[in-house]
Amino acid sequence: MGGIRAAEVSAMTTAHNSKVDAQVSEAQIAVHWREEEYVAPPVSFIGQANAADPAILDRFAEERFPDCFKEYADLLSWDAYWHTTLDTSKPPFWKWFVGGRLNACVNCVDRHLATHANKAAFIWVPEPEAEATLAITYRELYRRVNEFAALLRDWGGVQTGDRVTFHLPMVPELPVAMLACARLGVIHSEVFGGFSGAACGGRVADSGSTILVTMDGYYRNGELIDHKVKADQAVATAAELGHAIDKVLVFRRRSGQYASGSPMVEGRDFFVDDLLPTYRDVVVEPVSMPAEAPLFLMYTSGTTGQPKGCQHSTGGYLSYVAGTSKYYQDIHPTDTYWCCADIGWITGHSYIVYGPLSLGTTSVLYEGVPAYPDAGRVWRICQRLGVNIFHTAPTTIRMLRKLGPDEPAKYDYHLKHMTTVGEPIEPEVWRWYHDVAGKGEAAIVDTWWQTENGGFLGSTLPALQPMKPGSCGPGVLGIYPVIYDEDGQVVEAGSGKAGNICIRNPWPGIFQTIWGQPDRFVHIYYEKYNKHKDSTDWHDWPYFAGDGAVQAADGYFRILGRVDDVINVAGHRLGTKELESACLTVDEVAEAAAVPVIDEVRGRAVEMYVSLKPGLTASKDVEDKVAAAIDTEIGKIARPKHVWIVSDMPKTRSGKIMRRVIAGISNFADVGDVSTLANPEVVADIRHHIQAEKLAHGEAPRQLTPAEAEEIRSFGHAE
Ligand code: WTA
Repeated sequence: MGGIRAAEVSAMTTAHNSKVDAQVSEAQIAVHWREEEYVAPPVSFIGQANAADPAILDRFAEERFPDCFKEYADLLSWDAYWHTTLDTSKPPFWKWFVGGRLNACVNCVDRHLATHANKAAFIWVPEPEAEATLAITYRELYRRVNEFAALLRDWGGVQTGDRVTFHLPMVPELPVAMLACARLGVIHSEVFGGFSGAACGGRVADSGSTILVTMDGYYRNGELIDHKVKADQAVATAAELGHAIDKVLVFRRRSGQYASGSPMVEGRDFFVDDLLPTYRDVVVEPVSMPAEAPLFLMYTSGTTGQPKGCQHSTGGYLSYVAGTSKYYQDIHPTDTYWCCADIGWITGHSYIVYGPLSLGTTSVLYEGVPAYPDAGRVWRICQRLGVNIFHTAPTTIRMLRKLGPDEPAKYDYHLKHMTTVGEPIEPEVWRWYHDVAGKGEAAIVDTWWQTENGGFLGSTLPALQPMKPGSCGPGVLGIYPVIYDEDGQVVEAGSGKAGNICIRNPWPGIFQTIWGQPDRFVHIYYEKYNKHKDSTDWHDWPYFAGDGAVQAADGYFRILGRVDDVINVAGHRLGTKELESACLTVDEVAEAAAVPVIDEVRGRAVEMYVSLKPGLTASKDVEDKVAAAIDTEIGKIARPKHVWIVSDMPKTRSGKIMRRVIAGISNFADVGDVSTLANPEVVADIRHHIQAEKLAHGEAPRQLTPAEAEEIRSFGHAE
């Protein structure tokens, strides 16, 4: 742990404000960057912070592991206390708080009724500004959750341990459905609403749910989107995979009015608002679950193959999100907290629903696009609702800064705390967030973590450790990270060298397995640095995060991005394999390769390279088909910036596509040595053609930072 105190800031700034020289071996990646100066949190923040006493750093020191996490578990109400904090007998399938029993819904809803039943649990802000905001009190949430749980159980026939999939947008019905499942001990699996019906169907089939919960439509960018139509596609895709969805439950955005053009299928599709009156005021007894029972699945993209269903536990996960929400988000029950993310991602599960609600605070839900109808919207919401904690992703911050750099000053809101999550943030963007969006009044945390992790891994403790723009900070309480090189040697802090960031220890929020694929779980996350596969000592099982990072001499980490073939578009992980498979559904396409391009707003965007089957010629029609295939198979978020049809892909002599070469072309970067390729002559051809087109589109090249250049140079390095 860094353990740096705000008071020590100026001394440390001088000590470490040097540019690090990088003389590196092949196995290590050189990184140069200017060390940023520390920024101290405001005194007003420190005075009220949940973690203001440095003794907390000692309580979570490594010698107190794993018992230190009792402090997190004690934030919850347990039906039965656990007897074993951490069971390591079957590594790396860790079990936390063994013997304990609890119900996640009781912890998020029921237990707050005694003290603040009539306080808002959620405030929902519809996208159309003329539509009224909706405050849902804890009492009202309790009623809705119970009624929906009764419907799922008595009408849907679901039982503890079953899976139910949701394909819901940002509406209160989504957390209601999640908590209803949690009440029953049913495992929920929410698929991000922006994903296509086909992507949803694949996830339903993988999880084995027979019920799909969806909504007729929702607002996005001023448009009422037809969403139910995706359910029909999901059912069809699941059927192709040999899986039957028996029932589709359809919420209506406006009760009694159907917003979709897609017909309801007799005997399969049902309106929730038609069924619910039967369950009016029914109370469902919460099912007391073992701590290690699964709470939900969250699918994410990985190195190869199909998306992985990350299985999260009940006791460990909930303890971890409650603890990190308290100390890192600084949530007090009296705060109005807004995480402007989608519940369809892990951030929303942990830091819109489970973390904030377990602490009994008010959590804001926003239906739509942050900059709709203009760049002042977000700040108007903060003003109107009295938001004092704001949480979002760099892509949103970049967009708000670009579209409305001076908007924040026009609104009367005051934030004590702000968060950034999901991708690295550029120091200039960080400074705008701090100085302009936060008016210099807020402590900022840059939280690094992943779908697999349940909660934060790297961040500063907002009152105790100073901020450093562009760095997430040290490992969080009870997390002991390390950087290894490819050979498993430790890359020392302050060496200026990058490597693979790993977490040396288990923690309560870590996912339990990939749903139905335990071998893949061990292989992807633990095999790389495990030296003794029979060892039951957790020290032998470092968790491989799949991110490149550098650690400064002060212990702060700077995350450089994925080391696997995942492209982080606007904070969303897209696997190259999934993108390429989608392209191959187009008849004309013979081969496809996806590469990242640096994008000023979205961080990274995708460019697709495709070559056609023999005898076919390139056409706009094929380009459009490729883009449409990605929309259908994955969703609009994955839509490529360009589809380039090329005569041939640069390949190794063994026939592998050299993604780093085409990534270099797309980014106007150095393509490196191509003389050993099987077809070096195509490189100059492709480069000439594509770069000319890009210039014609007004996409002038920009000088890449050394870290960006390295990312492009090593993209798809596995080949
Ligand atoms: C990246 C999102 C830099 C990282 C919670 C990670 C970050 C991937 C940060 C996980 C951050 C997340 N700084 N990079 N603060 N937070 N990342 O699973 O590459 O959607 O591996 O989880 O996002 O994305 P995921």
